[in-house]
Amino acid sequence: MRWTQRGFRVSLPLLAVGAAALLSGCGVSKQSALAPAGPVARAQLGMFWESLAIMTGIFIIVAAVFLYSLIRFRARKGQTGLPKQVHGNTTLEIAWTIIPFILLVFLAIPTVHYAFVFGDTPPGAMQVDVVGHQYWWEFDYPSSNVTTANIVHIPVNTKVDFVLTSKDVIHSFWVPRLGGKTDLIPGRVNHLWLEANQTGTFYGQCAQLCGAGHAYMKFEVVVQSQAAYDAWIAQMQNPHVVVTTAEQKAGMALFQQDCSTCHTIGGTAFNGKIGPNLTALMERPTIAAGTLTNTPANLAKWLQNPPGVKPGALMPNLGLTQTQIQQLVSFLETLK
Ligand code: CUA
Repeated sequence: MRWTQRGFRVSLPLLAVGAAALLSGCGVSKQSALAPAGPVARAQLGMFWESLAIMTGIFIIVAAVFLYSLIRFRARKGQTGLPKQVHGNTTLEIAWTIIPFILLVFLAIPTVHYAFVFGDTPPGAMQVDVVGHQYWWEFDYPSSNVTTANIVHIPVNTKVDFVLTSKDVIHSFWVPRLGGKTDLIPGRVNHLWLEANQTGTFYGQCAQLCGAGHAYMKFEVVVQSQAAYDAWIAQMQNPHVVVTTAEQKAGMALFQQDCSTCHTIGGTAFNGKIGPNLTALMERPTIAAGTLTNTPANLAKWLQNPPGVKPGALMPNLGLTQTQIQQLVSFLETLK
Protein backbone atom coordinates (compact mmCIF):
# COMPACT_ATOMS: atom_id res chain seq x y z
CA MET A 1 0.00 0.00 0.00
CA ARG A 2 1.38 3.41 -0.97
CA TRP A 3 1.32 6.21 1.56
CA THR A 4 0.18 8.95 -0.79
CA GLN A 5 -0.37 12.60 0.08
CA ARG A 6 -4.08 12.01 -0.31
CA GLY A 7 -3.94 8.88 1.82
CA PHE A 8 -2.23 10.84 4.56
CA ARG A 9 -4.90 13.54 4.50
CA VAL A 10 -7.68 11.00 4.73
CA SER A 11 -5.99 8.90 7.39
CA LEU A 12 -4.98 11.62 9.82
CA PRO A 13 -8.52 12.42 11.02
CA LEU A 14 -9.22 8.69 11.15
CA LEU A 15 -6.14 8.20 13.31
CA ALA A 16 -7.26 11.04 15.55
CA VAL A 17 -10.73 9.50 15.96
CA GLY A 18 -9.17 6.09 16.59
CA ALA A 19 -6.78 7.47 19.18
CA ALA A 20 -9.58 9.39 20.91
CA ALA A 21 -11.72 6.24 21.00
CA LEU A 22 -8.83 4.22 22.40
CA LEU A 23 -7.99 6.83 25.02
CA SER A 24 -11.58 7.20 26.13
CA GLY A 25 -12.05 3.44 26.06
CA CYS A 26 -14.97 4.00 23.59
CA GLY A 27 -17.19 5.57 26.25
CA VAL A 28 -17.37 3.76 29.57
CA SER A 29 -15.68 0.45 28.92
CA LYS A 30 -16.82 -2.67 30.74
CA GLN A 31 -13.39 -2.79 32.33
CA SER A 32 -12.35 0.84 32.76
CA ALA A 33 -10.34 1.80 35.83
CA LEU A 34 -11.40 5.38 34.89
CA ALA A 35 -15.01 4.62 35.90
CA PRO A 36 -14.66 3.57 39.55
CA ALA A 37 -17.68 2.09 41.32
CA GLY A 38 -16.24 1.69 44.81
CA PRO A 39 -13.95 3.33 47.37
CA VAL A 40 -10.84 1.28 46.52
CA ALA A 41 -11.04 1.99 42.79
CA ARG A 42 -11.81 5.67 43.50
CA ALA A 43 -8.75 6.08 45.74
CA GLN A 44 -6.55 4.32 43.21
CA LEU A 45 -7.88 6.55 40.42
CA GLY A 46 -7.19 9.62 42.60
CA MET A 47 -3.55 8.57 42.92
CA PHE A 48 -3.40 8.00 39.17
CA TRP A 49 -4.68 11.54 38.46
CA GLU A 50 -2.26 13.03 41.00
CA SER A 51 0.79 11.37 39.44
CA LEU A 52 -0.49 12.19 35.95
CA ALA A 53 -0.85 15.87 36.93
CA ILE A 54 2.69 15.98 38.35
CA MET A 55 4.14 14.22 35.31
CA THR A 56 2.24 16.51 32.92
CA GLY A 57 3.61 19.58 34.76
CA ILE A 58 7.17 18.25 34.52
CA PHE A 59 6.69 17.41 30.85
CA ILE A 60 5.43 20.91 30.02
CA ILE A 61 8.30 22.63 31.87
CA VAL A 62 10.99 20.36 30.36
CA ALA A 63 9.50 20.67 26.86
CA ALA A 64 9.29 24.47 27.19
CA VAL A 65 12.93 24.79 28.32
CA PHE A 66 13.99 22.41 25.58
CA LEU A 67 12.14 24.33 22.83
CA TYR A 68 13.38 27.66 24.16
CA SER A 69 17.01 26.43 24.13
CA LEU A 70 16.59 24.94 20.67
CA ILE A 71 15.45 28.28 19.21
CA ARG A 72 17.42 30.75 21.35
CA PHE A 73 20.79 29.01 20.98
CA ARG A 74 20.47 27.64 17.44
CA ALA A 75 23.43 27.92 15.06
CA ARG A 76 23.23 31.22 13.16
CA LYS A 77 24.56 32.26 9.75
CA GLY A 78 28.26 33.02 9.78
CA GLN A 79 28.76 31.49 13.21
CA THR A 80 31.90 29.33 13.47
CA GLY A 81 33.19 27.09 16.22
CA LEU A 82 31.46 26.06 19.45
CA PRO A 83 29.42 28.57 21.47
CA LYS A 84 30.45 29.44 25.03
CA GLN A 85 30.51 26.23 27.12
CA VAL A 86 29.06 26.16 30.65
CA HIS A 87 30.12 23.67 33.32
CA GLY A 88 28.24 23.37 36.59
CA ASN A 89 25.73 25.69 38.23
CA THR A 90 25.30 25.07 41.96
CA THR A 91 21.99 26.92 42.27
CA LEU A 92 20.43 25.00 39.37
CA GLU A 93 21.72 21.66 40.60
CA ILE A 94 20.36 22.18 44.11
CA ALA A 95 17.01 23.27 42.62
CA TRP A 96 16.62 20.23 40.40
CA THR A 97 17.48 17.93 43.25
CA ILE A 98 15.09 19.51 45.74
CA ILE A 99 12.09 19.88 43.38
CA PRO A 100 11.89 16.15 42.45
CA PHE A 101 12.36 15.30 46.13
CA ILE A 102 9.35 17.43 47.07
CA LEU A 103 7.30 15.93 44.22
CA LEU A 104 8.19 12.40 45.37
CA VAL A 105 7.07 13.26 48.90
CA PHE A 106 3.70 14.39 47.48
CA LEU A 107 3.41 11.06 45.65
CA ALA A 108 4.59 9.03 48.64
CA ILE A 109 2.08 10.41 51.17
CA PRO A 110 -1.11 9.01 49.53
CA THR A 111 0.71 5.90 48.30
CA VAL A 112 1.90 4.88 51.76
CA HIS A 113 -1.40 5.95 53.34
CA TYR A 114 -3.49 3.79 51.00
CA ALA A 115 -0.99 0.91 51.14
CA PHE A 116 -1.91 0.61 54.81
CA VAL A 117 -5.64 1.30 54.29
CA PHE A 118 -5.92 -1.36 51.56
CA GLY A 119 -3.51 -3.73 53.30
CA ASP A 120 -5.75 -4.12 56.34
CA THR A 121 -8.96 -6.08 55.98
CA PRO A 122 -11.74 -3.94 57.50
CA PRO A 123 -13.36 -5.56 60.54
CA GLY A 124 -16.65 -7.28 59.76
CA ALA A 125 -15.93 -7.63 56.06
CA MET A 126 -17.78 -10.46 54.33
CA GLN A 127 -15.42 -13.27 53.37
CA VAL A 128 -15.26 -14.84 49.91
CA ASP A 129 -12.51 -17.38 49.23
CA VAL A 130 -11.14 -17.25 45.70
CA VAL A 131 -9.12 -20.10 44.23
CA GLY A 132 -7.41 -19.60 40.88
CA HIS A 133 -7.36 -22.54 38.49
CA GLN A 134 -6.10 -22.89 34.93
CA TYR A 135 -8.32 -21.25 33.56
CA TRP A 136 -11.31 -20.53 35.77
CA TRP A 137 -12.25 -19.08 39.15
CA GLU A 138 -13.60 -20.89 42.18
CA PHE A 139 -15.60 -18.78 44.65
CA ASP A 140 -16.41 -20.17 48.10
CA TYR A 141 -18.64 -18.51 50.70
CA PRO A 142 -17.47 -20.16 53.93
CA SER A 143 -20.18 -18.59 56.11
CA SER A 144 -22.99 -19.81 53.80
CA ASN A 145 -21.40 -23.07 52.66
CA VAL A 146 -21.90 -22.09 49.01
CA THR A 147 -19.45 -22.73 46.18
CA THR A 148 -19.70 -21.38 42.67
CA ALA A 149 -17.48 -20.63 39.70
CA ASN A 150 -16.64 -17.64 37.52
CA ILE A 151 -19.58 -15.47 38.62
CA VAL A 152 -19.26 -14.05 42.12
CA HIS A 153 -22.27 -12.40 43.78
CA ILE A 154 -21.77 -9.73 46.46
CA PRO A 155 -24.13 -7.31 48.22
CA VAL A 156 -23.94 -3.60 47.41
CA ASN A 157 -22.22 -1.18 49.86
CA THR A 158 -20.59 -4.09 51.69
CA LYS A 159 -16.88 -4.54 52.24
CA VAL A 160 -15.84 -7.93 50.90
CA ASP A 161 -12.62 -9.65 51.93
CA PHE A 162 -11.48 -11.73 48.96
CA VAL A 163 -9.14 -14.41 50.31
CA LEU A 164 -6.95 -15.39 47.39
CA THR A 165 -4.94 -18.51 46.64
CA SER A 166 -4.20 -20.77 43.69
CA LYS A 167 -4.35 -24.49 42.91
CA ASP A 168 -1.69 -24.42 40.19
CA VAL A 169 0.21 -21.35 38.95
CA ILE A 170 0.15 -17.64 39.78
CA HIS A 171 -3.02 -15.82 38.69
CA SER A 172 -4.10 -12.27 39.47
CA PHE A 173 -7.52 -11.01 40.60
CA TRP A 174 -8.53 -7.75 38.94
CA VAL A 175 -11.87 -5.98 38.67
CA PRO A 176 -10.88 -2.62 37.13
CA ARG A 177 -14.05 -0.75 38.17
CA LEU A 178 -13.80 -1.97 41.78
CA GLY A 179 -10.04 -1.95 42.30
CA GLY A 180 -7.17 -4.33 42.45
CA LYS A 181 -5.14 -6.15 41.55
CA THR A 182 -3.73 -8.90 43.78
CA ASP A 183 -1.99 -12.14 42.88
CA LEU A 184 -3.26 -15.63 43.72
CA ILE A 185 -0.16 -17.62 44.61
CA PRO A 186 -0.02 -21.39 45.23
CA GLY A 187 0.77 -22.14 48.88
CA ARG A 188 0.09 -18.56 49.98
CA VAL A 189 -2.98 -16.63 51.06
CA ASN A 190 -3.44 -13.01 49.98
CA HIS A 191 -6.24 -10.66 50.93
CA LEU A 192 -7.91 -7.99 48.81
CA TRP A 193 -10.91 -6.10 50.11
CA LEU A 194 -13.27 -4.35 47.74
CA GLU A 195 -16.62 -2.63 47.97
CA ALA A 196 -19.13 -1.77 45.25
CA ASN A 197 -21.38 1.27 45.67
CA GLN A 198 -23.76 0.48 42.83
CA THR A 199 -25.60 -2.63 41.72
CA GLY A 200 -24.83 -4.21 38.38
CA THR A 201 -22.26 -6.49 36.80
CA PHE A 202 -18.58 -5.64 36.92
CA TYR A 203 -16.13 -7.52 34.78
CA GLY A 204 -12.93 -9.07 36.10
CA GLN A 205 -9.96 -10.60 34.44
CA CYS A 206 -6.93 -12.67 35.32
CA ALA A 207 -4.09 -10.16 35.13
CA GLN A 208 -1.12 -12.50 35.34
CA LEU A 209 0.03 -14.54 32.35
CA CYS A 210 -0.80 -18.07 33.51
CA GLY A 211 -0.70 -20.20 30.36
CA ALA A 212 -2.38 -20.72 27.01
CA GLY A 213 -5.87 -19.90 28.31
CA HIS A 214 -4.89 -16.77 30.27
CA ALA A 215 -6.81 -14.36 28.02
CA TYR A 216 -9.96 -16.49 28.49
CA MET A 217 -9.80 -16.44 32.30
CA LYS A 218 -12.52 -13.90 32.97
CA PHE A 219 -15.09 -13.53 35.72
CA GLU A 220 -18.05 -11.38 36.66
CA VAL A 221 -18.88 -9.65 39.92
CA VAL A 222 -22.66 -9.40 40.28
CA VAL A 223 -23.43 -6.65 42.78
CA GLN A 224 -26.94 -6.99 44.22
CA SER A 225 -29.15 -5.42 46.84
CA GLN A 226 -28.87 -7.25 50.17
CA ALA A 227 -32.32 -8.86 49.61
CA ALA A 228 -31.44 -10.09 46.11
CA TYR A 229 -28.10 -11.37 47.35
CA ASP A 230 -29.77 -13.26 50.22
CA ALA A 231 -32.22 -14.79 47.73
CA TRP A 232 -29.31 -15.93 45.56
CA ILE A 233 -27.55 -17.53 48.53
CA ALA A 234 -30.79 -19.30 49.50
CA GLN A 235 -31.19 -20.59 45.95
CA MET A 236 -27.59 -21.85 45.91
CA GLN A 237 -28.15 -23.60 49.24
CA ASN A 238 -31.35 -25.29 48.07
CA PRO A 239 -31.06 -25.92 44.34
CA HIS A 240 -33.76 -28.11 42.86
CA VAL A 241 -32.76 -30.28 39.98
CA VAL A 242 -35.90 -31.72 38.42
CA VAL A 243 -35.12 -34.31 35.76
CA THR A 244 -38.25 -35.49 33.92
CA THR A 245 -37.83 -36.22 30.20
CA ALA A 246 -36.04 -39.31 28.84
CA GLU A 247 -33.42 -37.05 27.24
CA GLN A 248 -32.70 -35.29 30.56
CA LYS A 249 -32.44 -38.65 32.34
CA ALA A 250 -30.05 -39.98 29.69
CA GLY A 251 -27.99 -36.80 30.08
CA MET A 252 -27.89 -37.21 33.85
CA ALA A 253 -26.68 -40.83 33.50
CA LEU A 254 -24.03 -39.68 31.06
CA PHE A 255 -22.99 -36.92 33.46
CA GLN A 256 -22.60 -39.46 36.25
CA GLN A 257 -20.39 -41.61 34.02
CA ASP A 258 -18.25 -38.96 32.31
CA CYS A 259 -18.40 -35.73 34.32
CA SER A 260 -19.16 -36.36 37.99
CA THR A 261 -15.57 -37.21 38.92
CA CYS A 262 -14.69 -33.57 38.26
CA HIS A 263 -17.88 -31.55 38.82
CA THR A 264 -20.17 -30.97 41.79
CA ILE A 265 -23.85 -30.16 41.32
CA GLY A 266 -25.76 -29.04 44.39
CA GLY A 267 -29.04 -30.94 44.70
CA THR A 268 -27.54 -34.12 43.22
CA ALA A 269 -25.05 -36.77 44.41
CA PHE A 270 -22.36 -35.48 42.04
CA ASN A 271 -19.49 -34.06 44.07
CA GLY A 272 -16.28 -33.98 41.97
CA LYS A 273 -13.88 -31.27 43.05
CA ILE A 274 -11.52 -30.89 40.09
CA GLY A 275 -13.56 -28.72 37.73
CA PRO A 276 -15.97 -25.83 38.32
CA ASN A 277 -18.98 -26.38 40.58
CA LEU A 278 -22.05 -26.39 38.31
CA THR A 279 -24.79 -25.75 40.89
CA ALA A 280 -27.54 -23.58 39.36
CA LEU A 281 -25.55 -23.35 36.14
CA MET A 282 -28.52 -21.88 34.28
CA GLU A 283 -28.38 -18.76 36.47
CA ARG A 284 -25.00 -17.83 35.01
CA PRO A 285 -24.97 -15.47 32.04
CA THR A 286 -21.75 -16.94 30.66
CA ILE A 287 -19.90 -20.27 30.63
CA ALA A 288 -16.23 -21.30 30.35
CA ALA A 289 -15.01 -18.38 32.53
CA GLY A 290 -16.73 -15.66 30.51
CA THR A 291 -15.72 -17.13 27.15
CA LEU A 292 -19.22 -17.93 25.83
CA THR A 293 -22.71 -16.66 26.60
CA ASN A 294 -24.75 -19.34 28.34
CA THR A 295 -26.99 -20.71 25.58
CA PRO A 296 -27.82 -24.33 24.71
CA ALA A 297 -25.92 -23.93 21.42
CA ASN A 298 -22.82 -22.69 23.26
CA LEU A 299 -23.06 -25.44 25.88
CA ALA A 300 -23.06 -27.93 22.99
CA LYS A 301 -20.14 -26.13 21.38
CA TRP A 302 -18.19 -26.32 24.65
CA LEU A 303 -18.96 -30.03 25.22
CA GLN A 304 -17.94 -30.81 21.64
CA ASN A 305 -14.34 -29.69 22.22
CA PRO A 306 -13.41 -27.61 25.29
CA PRO A 307 -9.73 -27.01 24.38
CA GLY A 308 -10.93 -25.86 20.95
CA VAL A 309 -13.02 -23.12 22.63
CA LYS A 310 -10.50 -22.24 25.30
CA PRO A 311 -6.85 -23.03 24.52
CA GLY A 312 -5.23 -25.05 27.28
CA ALA A 313 -8.55 -25.93 28.96
CA LEU A 314 -8.00 -28.91 31.25
CA MET A 315 -11.45 -30.32 30.47
CA PRO A 316 -10.67 -32.84 27.73
CA ASN A 317 -12.48 -33.48 24.50
CA LEU A 318 -14.62 -36.43 25.62
CA GLY A 319 -15.35 -37.52 22.05
CA LEU A 320 -19.10 -37.23 22.62
CA THR A 321 -21.57 -37.95 19.86
CA GLN A 322 -24.12 -35.30 18.81
CA THR A 323 -26.83 -37.34 20.58
CA GLN A 324 -24.83 -37.51 23.81
CA ILE A 325 -24.10 -33.77 23.65
CA GLN A 326 -27.82 -33.08 23.19
CA GLN A 327 -28.65 -35.30 26.18
CA LEU A 328 -26.05 -33.58 28.37
CA VAL A 329 -27.27 -30.12 27.36
CA SER A 330 -30.85 -31.13 28.22
CA PHE A 331 -29.68 -32.26 31.63
CA LEU A 332 -27.56 -29.12 32.23
CA GLU A 333 -30.60 -27.00 31.37
CA THR A 334 -32.31 -28.39 34.49
CA LEU A 335 -29.68 -26.91 36.81
CA LYS A 336 -31.54 -24.00 38.38
CU1 CUA B 1 -4.95 -17.01 35.29
CU2 CUA B 1 -3.92 -15.54 33.76
